[in-house]
Amino acid sequence: MARRPPLPISVPRRIPFSKPFLLLLFILVTVCSIGFFYNAQKISYFFRPVWDTPPRPFTRLPHYYAQNVSMDHLCKLHGWTVRSSPRLVFDAVIFSNELDILEIRFHELFPYVHKFVILESNTTFTGIPKPLFFQENQQRFEFASSKIVRGTFPGQVDLGRTQRNPFDLESKHRVAVNKLLRSSGIGPGDVVIMADSDEIPSPQTLQLLQWCDGVPPVMHLELRHYMYSFEFPVDYSSWRATAHLFGQSTQYRHSRQSDIILADAGWHCSFCFRTIDEFVFKMTAYSHADRVRRASFLDHARIQKIICEGDDLFDMLPEEYTFHELIKKMGSIPKSSSAVHLPSYLIDNADKFRFLLPGGCVRAD
Ligand SMILES: *[C@@H]1O[C@H](CO)[C@@H](O)[C@H](O)[C@H]1NC(C)=O
Ligand SMILES: *[C@@H]1O[C@H](CO)[C@@H](O)[C@H](O)[C@H]1NC(C)=O
Repeated sequence: MARRPPLPISVPRRIPFSKPFLLLLFILVTVCSIGFFYNAQKISYFFRPVWDTPPRPFTRLPHYYAQNVSMDHLCKLHGWTVRSSPRLVFDAVIFSNELDILEIRFHELFPYVHKFVILESNTTFTGIPKPLFFQENQQRFEFASSKIVRGTFPGQVDLGRTQRNPFDLESKHRVAVNKLLRSSGIGPGDVVIMADSDEIPSPQTLQLLQWCDGVPPVMHLELRHYMYSFEFPVDYSSWRATAHLFGQSTQYRHSRQSDIILADAGWHCSFCFRTIDEFVFKMTAYSHADRVRRASFLDHARIQKIICEGDDLFDMLPEEYTFHELIKKMGSIPKSSSAVHLPSYLIDNADKFRFLLPGGCVRAD
């Protein structure tokens, strides 16, 4: 094989760029890298439709209700039959610091619930010591005391060396609720609601569960999702709350447990707090405390502005699985002036709960 003649050694060409240009390029690259570093989460969320697959879709059960329609007819409309006596309902929640929402929940559901099973911990999911807010405010819940089964979860303080996984501690909480539920006198065939304290099933949902034979043994509850107050309706995306007919294998969980979801089954009011201090507490106690990426996120004036504008506390993009949905949901949540179809205890006590109603976004410190 004939050898090729060696290539002539090329003389390095003069770089055809001037020094100012290189400097500019350097600055540009640096700025872009810093920008990318600080916004990596946003960029990754923006491309979620590319890297993440959406959860399995639910089968939605249409939900029928109107005032003064008999239970017999309502059960039939769902394909079920009316019972001769109602089932007992157990409402099981893990409580953090949502005192106002819990007060609304207990009053709204009181006539339908047999026992309110509530667990609270002396630490947060992220391992920070916290007051037992429910126990310290028991007088607010005195009216329901005969129905309350309360448990304390002995939390462990994070000593700072190992970054404890908040979801680990959260799962231990769920095991503890399970024990508490079993100690509350629940029996086979009773109804259990498993939800966070701010996920409130509507009274008509509980009545269907109490009165109809044929309801699925496990179903999710599709809740209207609100942010900061009922002035900011987000969508119907809230699905984690479930209703179960209790059996030996029933376990307290707050994740996907069934493909069936009952449409329009109640309200989920996230970050519906009266004071800015409660927002700060929840932002640091929350399972997603890693979202507090900058100390400035906890600034009171910033939080107040975000609440009134319906923006995101963590400066994040919505979790959506198609670009269409993502772009639709980007930006502020539009304000609603409707205070119709809300918990009746809230409307009866509108003066006490102005901050949850249209026009009430300004919070106390
Ligand atoms: C409610 O229903 C009953 C019987 O079906 C009827 O007599 C009554 O007038 C109704 N009340 C209202 C307010 O519609
Ligand atoms: C939480 O309660 C448990 C049991 O009462 C106790 O051992 C623990 O020290 C408490 N933790 C804090 C942070 O108060």
